Amino acid sequence: MRRDRIGIAVIGFGWMGKAHSRSYARIPMIFPDRTYDPELAVCADTVESRRVDAIESFGFRETVDDWHVAMSHPDVEVVVVCAPNMLHEEMVIAAAEVGKHVFCEKPVGGTPDQTVRIEKACRAAGVITGVGYNYRFAPLVQYAKQLIDDGDLGSITNYRGRFFTMYGADPLGLLSWRFQLDQGGHGVSTDILSHSMDLAMLLNGPITRVVGTGETFIRQRPLPKKGGTHYDRGDPDDPTGEVTNEDYFGALVVFANGSRGTFEASRSMIGPESQMAFDVYGTRGALGWNLEKLNELRLYLADDSARGYTTVFGGDRYPYHGNFVPGDANSIGFEDLVTIEDHEFLSAVAADRKHVASFDEAIEFVSVQAALIRSWESARWEDVVSIREE
Ligand SMILES: NC(=O)c1ccc[n+]([C@@H]2O[C@H](COP(=O)([O-])OP(=O)(O)OC[C@H]3O[C@@H](n4cnc5c(N)ncnc54)[C@H](O)[C@@H]3O)[C@@H](O)[C@H]2O)c1
Repeated sequence: MRRDRIGIAVIGFGWMGKAHSRSYARIPMIFPDRTYDPELAVCADTVESRRVDAIESFGFRETVDDWHVAMSHPDVEVVVVCAPNMLHEEMVIAAAEVGKHVFCEKPVGGTPDQTVRIEKACRAAGVITGVGYNYRFAPLVQYAKQLIDDGDLGSITNYRGRFFTMYGADPLGLLSWRFQLDQGGHGVSTDILSHSMDLAMLLNGPITRVVGTGETFIRQRPLPKKGGTHYDRGDPDDPTGEVTNEDYFGALVVFANGSRGTFEASRSMIGPESQMAFDVYGTRGALGWNLEKLNELRLYLADDSARGYTTVFGGDRYPYHGNFVPGDANSIGFEDLVTIEDHEFLSAVAADRKHVASFDEAIEFVSVQAALIRSWESARWEDVVSIREE
């Protein structure tokens, strides 16, 4: 089979830079029907040990400490931005201006204004874009969408979304870039609420009105060490700095289809460790999914004679599951979703067509986020208006 070679530059080689790089390396073994072959051309990171790892363990051909060099590299067709959020704007726009297709980790910039400028620049440059809303690609999330679209739940009346993680629950957790407005942008409303609301809009359509509130519960954290991540801990005697974005955001929303929704996102609570979860309720049924049990979908169909929630296990009858493991109830994991996402994006690049989710979906979310931030300030309901710029 004829396959296009797609040279890739990964910018930022932390958690997600490595996750995407592992995907590109194993895509040939997982997707035999692919129309392209990914090539790990260049990796850019400011931390030397990560650059060494990129060459020695991941097989990148080259590394650079200055990301600008990677943008104009002749072997690169696709730039993958996995750096801290407030660096996204400069990096993505530089890539688009030299005609590279861009995949940017969510949320595409740290603030709604930045996302707007990024989307506009990429549209003007005519490049293919992708945003890292990887949970869309969970096979059972796809199945949930099919059930909702087919009307199996009847009319949707209410939607409950949440992203509860504990990555910021320890007050000794380092003051990494995520906790600082000038590096991470807004807090959980940018970081994890974006995932939750993106899934809600995928499953239940646009959001038209919102009221929301946020809070920062842990206001000081130990200063970070170079190369540290938000999972590293400091010591009680370490010097501390101020947390400048929110730990918590909660919202009540109205969807365009008339249903109502509630959302909560928190990084500092104790208990739920990674509950990226939703519940959808309709006039004839309900379903629920939770990343902590990503191979299970809870389904309630009112027409069933045996009433009650049943558990549907993942398996190769759902999209892409069988690329990883055959049969029923054999599990897949977080990075498998990233690999499906990367395969979808590179397939779109090879076919020169739009990818979903693109920066269009990123704009849809930040339009809701902008209304939520207005509501937090005004303490009133706010209409969602698109902030996309012509
Ligand atoms: N889709 C998801 O599920 C998911 C999960 C985690 C993170 N993310 C997103 O991925 C992005 C990266 O997050 P992470 O958790 O991988 O962060 P991380 O802190 O683990 O990694 C960031 C990397 O960027 C590097 N870096 C910093 N400044 C740089 C510069 N000027 N040039 C080149 N490299 C630079 C750092 O050295 C580090 O290796 C963020 O936008 C985040 O929101 C998405």
